[in-house]
Amino acid sequence: MTGVATARIAVDASRRLGMVDRNLYGHFIEHLGRCINDGIWGEMLKSRKFVGADSNCDGLPDPWTLPVARDPQLVVSVDETQAGSGVPCLRMRVLRDDDRMHGVAQPGLALRAGATYSLQVWVRSEGALREVEVSLGGERVRRPAPGEQWEHWDLELTARWDAADARLLTGGRGEGELWVHAPSLMPKVTRQGGGFRPEVVELTRAIEAPIVRWPGGCFADAYQWRDGIGERDSRPVVFDAAWQQYEPNDFGTDEFMEWCGVVGAEPYICVNTGSASAEDAAAWVQYCNGSPGTQWGDRRAEGGHPQPYGVRYWGIGNETYGGWEIGNVPADEYGRLFLEFAEKMREQDPSIKLIAVGADPVQLPEWNRTVLEIVGDKMDYLSVHRYVPHTRDDEQREKQYAAIVAAPVDIESRLRMVRETIDEALGPDNQVKIAFDEWNVWLQAGASEGIAERYELRDAVFAAGVFNALHRLADSVTMANLAQLVNVLPAIATSSTGVWGTPLYHAFKLYAGRCLPVVVGCECEAPTFDAAEFGNIPALSEVPYLDASATMNEEGDRLALAVVNRHRTDDLRAEISLAGIGPVQSAEVALLCGESERAAGSEHLPEAVSISAAEIEVAGDSFEYTFPAHSATVISLRTN
Ligand code: AHR
Repeated sequence: MTGVATARIAVDASRRLGMVDRNLYGHFIEHLGRCINDGIWGEMLKSRKFVGADSNCDGLPDPWTLPVARDPQLVVSVDETQAGSGVPCLRMRVLRDDDRMHGVAQPGLALRAGATYSLQVWVRSEGALREVEVSLGGERVRRPAPGEQWEHWDLELTARWDAADARLLTGGRGEGELWVHAPSLMPKVTRQGGGFRPEVVELTRAIEAPIVRWPGGCFADAYQWRDGIGERDSRPVVFDAAWQQYEPNDFGTDEFMEWCGVVGAEPYICVNTGSASAEDAAAWVQYCNGSPGTQWGDRRAEGGHPQPYGVRYWGIGNETYGGWEIGNVPADEYGRLFLEFAEKMREQDPSIKLIAVGADPVQLPEWNRTVLEIVGDKMDYLSVHRYVPHTRDDEQREKQYAAIVAAPVDIESRLRMVRETIDEALGPDNQVKIAFDEWNVWLQAGASEGIAERYELRDAVFAAGVFNALHRLADSVTMANLAQLVNVLPAIATSSTGVWGTPLYHAFKLYAGRCLPVVVGCECEAPTFDAAEFGNIPALSEVPYLDASATMNEEGDRLALAVVNRHRTDDLRAEISLAGIGPVQSAEVALLCGESERAAGSEHLPEAVSISAAEIEVAGDSFEYTFPAHSATVISLRTN
């Protein structure tokens, strides 16, 4: 790649501007769509606790069904009480012993030939039922009927063939009743790994997610945390008012803590101010951080976790300013609510860090000031969320592209506005930081499709621009969480058979894996473009095509120069000067790119957007480099 340099990047490593908090590469998971259930959590059965809509009116919650349209020897019903926990169970009454199996099925299961599946289920029987039968993927297990006491069965079935739409069949033979409670089906390896999808764990580990926010989002303001603790099969299924879906509560506090441990992330919990009290939040802090001997510390220990989890980061409510949010209140009311929650939560653990709900400074200019004036330095962080562009127009792709890749410029200026408000309200010596704890490109993916946005390389260019902005704001913004990690506005996408990284994922991999802790001086001059207003992104003029940030290690012998080229079609050549570091001994370029800005990657083509690495020669204190169109690059330099 040759050409005349049209841009200049001047790195001055002697100017140390701030420290990058690793939490800038943080994530967020929510009980919404397929993020947790069917994304992170490996349960394969839907409605395993027999709660849900019955769209075909067969007496069974979807997708349970009768294997034959009409079975005159079988009566099925969902019984509310018999399992002893209040969780519904399924009752199958076989009317006549015709030596055939009568039962129910769940279709839509993806199986891999040779893989072993673990089915765990509670069963009991009455009358002269002789045998229980379960079959899946060509393998059948038969067992003598259990009798009147509940038994917990742990069965293994090995699929004989690959299938995209296999059925689990279960039922009884003889004359009598079979009761089934809380069946759970997972690949055996997933069960052995604690119930977490191993490929999601692996991809999450690979981007070194430092911190993960949970359980929402909007979900947080409807979530009763006590529903998600205790014996998993006995936890209630709750209709979630925020996202209008059934929540089985299989993934609760203990599962979140365990998963964070497995992926190596720090937990960040957002408590419910919408439909729960300060006492509820304080009890949750005690459940997580209290020692055995406290009421909730004991409950945690009873569940097998005697050591306190020591959760440090706690958000108090989510987007409380929004008309869509459960428990939405005005800013002054929220400020008072925050103080009440903070006091009770800190009584349980004074060391916790508290995040207050902040608002977008352009849309709601007064919210932050009011909350800051009431709460003062009782908050550790003020949170800000930003999704762009909240619209989609594929007819105007170039305009859409320009606005999205330019949006980090606007995001940076909004975050600076929030900083100014904090400093004005609390004085220049305040210690309050910004948690940019939900951000992403969100075009028009709707809640009914689980907000499963499909990302393109364009969105990785956007994310890289956000990271550069966050580096520049490192002293002020010390936490940021992409919304969300899996399947919803996703960094990681899953299907029933596979898991792959979206373009956003690669942006994380590029930056989190290579950028260093000290932000140093980096000036970039480049040709500019104007981006027209698009959705909630305002018109932006003179946006530089190239945007750069530079970070260094503490010792000063490694430097990472991160450069985004926002140009849709053109490569751009830059002259790069280096000051404040010794002679470069080795240089490696990592390039995140794809064939076009529309390259997306998918289960079957995961490398359509990818990172490639190469060594380059850097002699002296300046060199030229060509940055490909619609790309992000990190040049890693070593001086020893
Ligand atoms: O990330 C999806 C949703 O967007 C979150 O639940 C909410 O906080 C935001 O409005």
